[in-house]
Formats: sequence, structure tokens, C-alpha cells
Amino acid sequence: MPESAKLNCGDVELDLPVIEGTENEKALDVSQLRRETGLITLDEGYVNTGSTRSAITFLNGEQGILRYRGYAIEDLAQNCDFVEVCYLLIYGDLPNGEQLAEFRSAIHSHTMLHEDMRMFYDGFPRDAHPMAILSSVVSAMSTFYQDALDPANPEHVEICIHRLIAKLPTIAAYSYKKSIGQPFIYPENDLTYCENFLRMMFAVPCEPYEIDPDFVTALNMLLIVHADHEQNCSTSTVRMVGSSNANLFASIAAGVCALWGPLHGGANEAVVNMLTQIMEDDGDVEKYVAMAKDKEHGFRLMGFGHRVYKNFDPRARIIKAACDRLLDKMNIDDPLFHIAQQLEEVALRDEYFVSRKLYPNVDFYSGVIYRAIGIPVPMFTVLFAMGRLPGWIAHWKEMHASKNKRICRPRQVYTGENIREFVELSDR
Ligand code: MLT
Repeated sequence: MPESAKLNCGDVELDLPVIEGTENEKALDVSQLRRETGLITLDEGYVNTGSTRSAITFLNGEQGILRYRGYAIEDLAQNCDFVEVCYLLIYGDLPNGEQLAEFRSAIHSHTMLHEDMRMFYDGFPRDAHPMAILSSVVSAMSTFYQDALDPANPEHVEICIHRLIAKLPTIAAYSYKKSIGQPFIYPENDLTYCENFLRMMFAVPCEPYEIDPDFVTALNMLLIVHADHEQNCSTSTVRMVGSSNANLFASIAAGVCALWGPLHGGANEAVVNMLTQIMEDDGDVEKYVAMAKDKEHGFRLMGFGHRVYKNFDPRARIIKAACDRLLDKMNIDDPLFHIAQQLEEVALRDEYFVSRKLYPNVDFYSGVIYRAIGIPVPMFTVLFAMGRLPGWIAHWKEMHASKNKRICRPRQVYTGENIREFVELSDR
């Protein structure tokens, strides 16, 4: 591969340096393009645009590889707990025992919400979407911790990180409790991260609650496989908002909003809704496959295909195996799981899906596990957000530490009207 590519544009000949990453992926550096030629690049949806250099997550979509800080997702999902993976993503290395104990204890000391923050929940309608509550309450954290918001102050950033990781499960569980009219359950700091979340979700003050270790294992795995995915829509949003030096809470709240969309994190909810629709329609999988292939119909199979994975999504494989194990162990015969399996089988052998590389992605099976754990459908994307939080934080931090940091400010190709004569209201 040459060290640069030549671009001839009118009289100007420009050398565009080839930038190479540590896994040999290559990019053309176009940073001098506008200055030298007056041109910009146009890449709608950023399909070919590298927005940054990053040392956090490596992803090879052709080979189905996903690594956090160099560690294979399969190894992390099998051997780590989520808090360890948070540490890895945010600080760059797996923690030793002492570092991990210190990190856990920092998180444990921030799990409660300020009592006034609990009052917000009184103002939300009972049927509010929990992603709306999550982004609002995360954003409102900047009103409670005004003395520690400076992105340039490492101590402020550190405490914001602890507060976010500690409080997100509490904020999330309270949104569910609000929706069903049950009392909020305070966090219990002797429990692990996932145990604590399950207890806050499902315990009631009048009965003992036993935490199912299989649910804890499944939840831990799900959080880990969702923890980062390089420059996806919500992470890019967090970087974009953070690039203006907005505080960490504001940046993460924006990431939550970006994740909410059905084309991004909201897809897991959309998958279960689609499977339920098929089940209620006599489980006629073939009919829905035909509808998906019919351009006129506009029906889209949710949870299939991915912008960057071209062969398989390694996360989907991990989740599917865990899903098989969990349903088997619990002896659950979930009709949605059967429909999901049939849909997968049809799609994987049908030329239409094969040629378009539409295979199940991370969202396809995660909903089935969430259901088995008893997580209600509107909370699925909230769980995705809990998982993605360390990735967002790691990227926000990496961006601030970069010597190349500038406010993100893309250009555009204007396609509107040329200058027009102003017309008075009375003459229009
Ligand atoms: C993600 O994990 O963020 C999704 O798979 C979407 C993406 O990477 O573009």
C-alpha cells in the first residue's frame, strides 16, 4: 500500500497521506483537502468516514471480530464481570485485584439517588418511555453536581464517571417501578452490580426477593457484549456533544437519546414487537419473510443485518448460545424464541437474505433473554444503555485527551434556493 494517494483536481495535485491503524486498516487523511482544493468530501451517513483515531475497540466487520482494548469479546463475556469491563474500557487495561476493589468501592458509594431527584419521577406520566426518563434524569444530574462538571478537571471527570456508572441502574429501575406503581427499592451495596439492578427492578418491600444467579450471569454477559462498538450513532453523538466541552452528564444524556431510535438501540424492542406480531398472526414466519422481500410492502425484518458486520455479528453468536442455555435450564418454552429460530433459519438459507448479508445481529436474541429474565419490553433499550455507558465514557475521555481535539463541525453541500428578493408579508 502506498504511503499516500494522489488527487488531481484542476491544477492542484494533492498527496493524501494513507493512515494505518494497528490492525492494518487504512484511511486517507483528507484534513488538508479544503484548504488546498476548496473541496470537501461528501459522505452521507458517514459510510466511508473515519471521524477519529481510537484505541478503544477494534472491529472487523468482514471477519466478525470485536475486541475491547485488544481482548476478544468472547473471552471478556466468558470470564469477566461488567464492572471489570467498565474499568478496561475507561482506563485501557484490565484491573488488578486492588484496582478493581477500589473501583467497585467508588461505584458502591454512589448508587443512591439524591432524594430530590427521586421526586422527578412524580412528575413523569406513568406511561412515559423509560428511555425518556433515563435521558432526562441523567441530564438533570448536572443540576445536582454543579461543583464537579469541568471536563478539563480529572477529579471532576472521575467522580462523574463513578456517579454515572453507579446511578444508571438505580435511575433505570426506578423508571420501571414508576411505570407499574410499585415503591422504589433502594440500592443495596453488598450486592454486585447486576444483582443490585435485578433486586431494584423486581423486589417489593413486603416479600423476600431471591436473586436468580442464572439471571445475573445472563445480564452480566448482555451488558458486556453491549459495552462498546466503536463509532456507532450514540457514541458518535456523545463525542459530538462532548466536543463542545459540554459536561459528561449532558453528553451521556445525548447518547441515550441517540440510542433510543429503532434503527439503533431501540431495535431490540422492535424485534420482540415484530416476533409478537408474527406469533399473534398464527406464527406464519414464511408470510413475514415474503413481506420483507416485497419492496412494495415496506415491512422490514428487525434485528437482521448490520452496517459494519458483513458475515456475522460475534455478539449475536454469544447471545444466542446464552439464550439456548438459559431457556433450557429454566425449562422455558418461549414461542417467541421458536419464531426467532425459524426466522433465522429461513433468512440464513434464503438467497435474498444471504446475498444482502442479512443475518441476525446483536438485537435479535437479546430481547428473548430479557423476556426470560422478566425485563419488560420498553426497558430493553434501557438495558442497552446501561451496557453502553462505559463505552460512551471511554470515548468521551479519549476525545478530551486527544491533542487533535476540536469541536466537531462537519460541512455541507448547500442545495437550497439561490439568493431571493425579500417579499413583504402583504405581497405574498
Ligand atoms: C451498536 O452496538 O452500537 C450497534 O450494533 C450499532 C452500530 O454499531 O452501528
